[in-house]
Amino acid sequence: MDFELANALGRIVELKDRSTGAHTWRVTMYAQAMAEAARVETPRLMNFMLAAVLHDLGKIDVPDAILRKPGRLDPDEFRRMQEHTTAGHDRLLRMGVTEPIILEVVRSHHERIDGTGYPDGLAGEQIPLAARWFSVIDGFDAMTSLRSYHDGRGDSAAERAILDLEVHAGSWYEPEAVTVFRDLYESGRLDSTLEHLNDPVAHQTLTGPLSETSAELAREALLRSNPPGVESADIEHLLELATRSPDRDD
Ligand SMILES: [Fe+2]
Repeated sequence: MDFELANALGRIVELKDRSTGAHTWRVTMYAQAMAEAARVETPRLMNFMLAAVLHDLGKIDVPDAILRKPGRLDPDEFRRMQEHTTAGHDRLLRMGVTEPIILEVVRSHHERIDGTGYPDGLAGEQIPLAARWFSVIDGFDAMTSLRSYHDGRGDSAAERAILDLEVHAGSWYEPEAVTVFRDLYESGRLDSTLEHLNDPVAHQTLTGPLSETSAELAREALLRSNPPGVESADIEHLLELATRSPDRDD
């Protein structure tokens, strides 16, 4: 997977799912920190970071009405939301991506050790290792990010999130990954990502308009990987948003 393309796709997912406010970039920085702490060799580290950038790619295929719904999702809507895992995985296959770590994280980052996750209900070591590690990162960020439906910011939110990871170590999360993540948090290694990238003004400064070249790469990849029978109008709209200058409003 090409870095420029991954960056463009990550930006487009962020535009599609605005509630997450730089979620993609925070989890990518956490992924780098975790992989370094685990002394993962460079090619795997790079692929783990790319997997983080792309983990929610399939949200492009979830209707806005579901993705941005303020209240609780009904069972059908929830099922549709869960399909972002397989939708992203299938898109990557159609794009020609072959790196196992990327495909595994995108498909299996919502699986749980006790088998209660989705989309495949895998348990324990059936869940690919990288996905088990990434789900700790994703879980932490869900509990500490700026989201429209709760205020999860600040040190106390982070402390609570670490406790929650520990409570669910062995049931939802891989215990070793929880320990590595907690140690990183306690060492202060995650502070700048946690603070800076959760600041709504600061993170906007990271995301100027996408270049025409990047947008073209993304357009080609997305159109080529569109699920059969799906309209491409939404993709054109997202690309238009991604390439316009920030002073314009939609
Ligand atoms: Fe996800």
